Amino acid sequence: MPLTLLPLVIAHWLHVLFAITWFGGVVYRNLIILPILVQTADEEQRQLTRRFKERADQLILPIALLVIVLGILRGTIFGQIQSVDALLTPYGITWTAALVLALFIFGWDVFGVGAEVENWYGEQVDGEGSPLAAPAVTVALKQSASRILTLGYIEIGGFILVFTCMILMRFGY
Ligand code: HEM
Repeated sequence: MPLTLLPLVIAHWLHVLFAITWFGGVVYRNLIILPILVQTADEEQRQLTRRFKERADQLILPIALLVIVLGILRGTIFGQIQSVDALLTPYGITWTAALVLALFIFGWDVFGVGAEVENWYGEQVDGEGSPLAAPAVTVALKQSASRILTLGYIEIGGFILVFTCMILMRFGY
């Protein structure tokens, strides 16, 4: 392999590694972590959720941003999009679609799923702001978890679209 290819190979390697970590983390959250969390006692559920969220924010969000930055570099400096005109080719359109979708997924994760997760482990209050009694807390937690599950599946749908873009670009489209 010529040495000049090395930066491209490294960028591609990191992009794919971080991308599968981000995508895999979201799938793991929906399929494994959430179903187990909802089965734990209310207080434990809230404590664990807070800890999962803090750790995910520290690790997964920076990784997600790196996926996007490396995707931009992989398509431009190290790829086929070397001019504005190239954005109008099938490859350029697919790349732009992937970028927009990935930014949308990132925003969805932070402002949609993330906000609902904070709501899940936060204090459960009624419409007037008074703390809920124990049985109502259990119901509110279950509703929150179910909303997070739905938001997560929509996010996974977004990933499947981005992933399809990756495969299309692989074949030149
Ligand atoms: C959001 C999650 C993402 C995932 C899971 C993902 C995954 C992948 C994978 C697995 C490949 C390797 C494909 C192959 O070699 O067959 C790839 C390549 C690539 N990705 Fe991504 N990616 C993501 C986001 C992005 C974004 C946002 C961009 C653009 C801004 C991007 C740009 C690229 C480019 C340009 C390639 C090389 C395509 C080629 O010409 O072969 N990716 N990605």
